[in-house]
Amino acid sequence: MKSALLITALAGIVGAQPTLKDAYKNAFRIGTALNTAQFSEEDKRALPIIKAQFNTITPENILKWMYVHPEANRYSFDLPDRYVAFGQKHGMFIIGHTLVWHSQVPRWVFEDAEGKPLTRDALIERMHDHIRTVVGRYKGRIKGWDVVNEALNEDGTLRQSPWMKIIGPDYLAMAFRFAHEADPDAQLYYNDYSLENPAKREGAVKLIRDLKQQGVPVYGVGLQGHNKLEWPSAEQQDETIRAFKALGVKVMITELDIDVLPSASGNRSADVGRSEEALAKFNPYTKGLPEDVEKTLARRYAELFGVYWKHRDVVERVTFWGVTNADSWLNNWPVRGRTNYPLLFDRDGKPTPAYAAVIAAAQAKP
Ligand code: GLA
Repeated sequence: MKSALLITALAGIVGAQPTLKDAYKNAFRIGTALNTAQFSEEDKRALPIIKAQFNTITPENILKWMYVHPEANRYSFDLPDRYVAFGQKHGMFIIGHTLVWHSQVPRWVFEDAEGKPLTRDALIERMHDHIRTVVGRYKGRIKGWDVVNEALNEDGTLRQSPWMKIIGPDYLAMAFRFAHEADPDAQLYYNDYSLENPAKREGAVKLIRDLKQQGVPVYGVGLQGHNKLEWPSAEQQDETIRAFKALGVKVMITELDIDVLPSASGNRSADVGRSEEALAKFNPYTKGLPEDVEKTLARRYAELFGVYWKHRDVVERVTFWGVTNADSWLNNWPVRGRTNYPLLFDRDGKPTPAYAAVIAAAQAKP
């Protein structure tokens, strides 16, 4: 009796439940995005969660161009070095994010010394230098790179980013070839959001097929997974994973979260350029998540993990975009200063009912 009580008490403290990475160890890696306080081991609330629950990490910001290469002749490797050292120390599968993107990239990248648009050749050379320098520095340590992020429009056509306008559509193939040249063993991914929507997905399928036909070393597709309570459906998620599996590439869920707050505009996309007015009615859960929404969220997580599990032959990684609800970008986007609940750990770092549902979804499998 005494020992039974002791076991129950201990289970309550250390969690007799398996951790996320253990529950899914035969299926795929489980990861999280880290901010600077986290990989610097200053965030004492997040650190035990990171070490116990996750076996792969992605840097939320510090490898984006504007941070790692803020000026033409200056790279800033202090924080990325610290991030990679953290990953090595804790035995994590380390991801790099992201090399070529239209956002969080300084204007100078696309301009010459006089502020005029760069020529195609000069921009190719600049991209080559950036990729060679950044990927080369972490060769053999960063195991997978989001090479190109968000190259597609919602209708599946290529976004008219500065990369596209100045270089043309072959900038994608070049970015992958440069990354492969800098680290032939690194896994290289194309990463994007809303690929669960048919038009954008078809565009991505065509893009990846074309790249593969040219012999471009694309290892996998990153489905960002910035989800809503009602989107994507399990069927859409399933079809999307199958579409990429059919192309012979792996699938990573790279930035998983589920937004539980009402949308102010009805615009459901994850375009980082979007902003909406902060109004109290769009911030209804400042005092806690009502039980019915909490249950719906837990069911959604279980449903999505059911789909990932089913496709565990091609799904190699599921990475959450943040550790606790307090860390999530969704508290500030698309409306600043809201209280959102998109992840599996609450603001005190405690596992939520959605966490339990994700663990149960693994245990329920054969
Ligand atoms: C996109 C990017 C991420 C991050 C999120 C929002 O999905 O790929 O790096 O900026 O937006 O935080």
